[in-house]
Amino acid sequence: MAITFESLYSDIAGRCGKLTVSKKTIKTPALLPVINPHLQLITPKEIQSMGVEALITNAYIFSQSSQYRERVLNEGLHHVLDFDGVIMTDSGSFQLSVYGQVSVSNIETLSFQRDIGSDIWVPLDIPTSPASDHETSETELAITMKRLAEAKSVFGDEAPIAGPVQGGIFSDLRERAGREVSGLGFSFCAIGAVVPLMESYRYRDLVSVIMAAKRSLSPSACVHLFGAGHPSMFALATAMGCDLFDSAAYALYAKDGRYMTTHGSYKIHELTELPCPCSVCRLNTAEELQKAPDRERLLALHNLHVTVAEISRIRQAIIDGTLWELVDERCRGHPQLLAGYRQLLRCAPALEERDRVSKRRFFYRGNESCSRTEILRYQNMLRRLRLRKNILIAFNGETRDGYDDILFFKPPFGPYVKELRETFPIGQSEVPEWDEAMVSRACRGIRILVETHPESCVTVACSRRWKPIVLSEVSGCEVLTE
Ligand code: GUN
Ligand code: ZN
Repeated sequence: MAITFESLYSDIAGRCGKLTVSKKTIKTPALLPVINPHLQLITPKEIQSMGVEALITNAYIFSQSSQYRERVLNEGLHHVLDFDGVIMTDSGSFQLSVYGQVSVSNIETLSFQRDIGSDIWVPLDIPTSPASDHETSETELAITMKRLAEAKSVFGDEAPIAGPVQGGIFSDLRERAGREVSGLGFSFCAIGAVVPLMESYRYRDLVSVIMAAKRSLSPSACVHLFGAGHPSMFALATAMGCDLFDSAAYALYAKDGRYMTTHGSYKIHELTELPCPCSVCRLNTAEELQKAPDRERLLALHNLHVTVAEISRIRQAIIDGTLWELVDERCRGHPQLLAGYRQLLRCAPALEERDRVSKRRFFYRGNESCSRTEILRYQNMLRRLRLRKNILIAFNGETRDGYDDILFFKPPFGPYVKELRETFPIGQSEVPEWDEAMVSRACRGIRILVETHPESCVTVACSRRWKPIVLSEVSGCEVLTE
């Protein structure tokens, strides 16, 4: 019965893994489309045929529905939805955050989710508004934690219950929540109350909140991000270690006449072309799609295709070790996503601990690339290099006589010995013509070398152009210009 998660490949803090519940195994990262039993634009069967292995639906809607309540209790959720994959059910918490109150208790909703045969149950957590102050957020977090403890004590350790992580916008509370949720033994955690942040494009705060929660959550826990549905932010969230996304966005956007792409959305009447390879876009022109009587359904299908394809792309990027390149690409789609990306790069020291050792490649994509984990990892490695007394760092690769050790130089990483020429990242990195940002970043590598080899005497041979940068970044070395 218990939920198990296994990570098979990783990149940055992102994982490609296997989540097993009720003897069913699904690939992660995964998207769980939201199904509302009362309005099914696309049926669960159709969704399954697009390669989707799991769904999420709202237990509260079923429990309050005169049409569905008895049926789902008698026949079971999988039969009623006609879906044999993994079904996760949410409690009434989302309704709680929208309407202020719900007419079920924590134990009632969990018992109902068990009785209808849900694969993953969610307790009645409190999604704290980002507008709440520290005191309110702390009080609400305490209630959520009491309910999670109650869930564990009533249903036992083996019950497939998700542990929501709350705490509002406060990093200390999110970190505490992560620690306590893991402490209670939840192997499946769900970061909550982030929908209002995403709706208002507060990606910088989103990154802070997720990173704070991840700092203290067990690294072996599967992490769900509640309500994340726009494909433009999946790569960013995956890089932080989120494994599952659920979203009604594909349907809500369709209802609103919005056409999703991985870099943002368009109003359908703004389009004269349909820039997508999915069947909806190839079988219709933009004009036909605008005028189609089943426009909402077609748009929902297209939106779901785009969303599911992005998940596949992310899985491949993790396997290849090119997730940073994908995050960089996606976060150029909106200035606030770029702000989120920059916040993520500020967390590089924490991400570096999880990042893998070797990757397929490192493509330099501008200034932001200078803050990547691979550079941090490489420059920390420089501390352990065994070097003799007189060291030359030759920017242009030309050796000179009179030195005990000669190192070469590759921005944005720094100095390297010839034995590292073919290894990652020196051998697998592609950079355009050198610019100030990358040379200055690489000079930090020289500084680390100088600081950690106090017995050595370091000389840098470079062109006049780079001399001022070397001098400003490194003290205690000699500079020869060519
Ligand atoms: N759906 C979107 N956000 C949340 C949340 O914080 N908790 C629950 N249970 N469901 C959600
Ligand atoms: Zn399409």
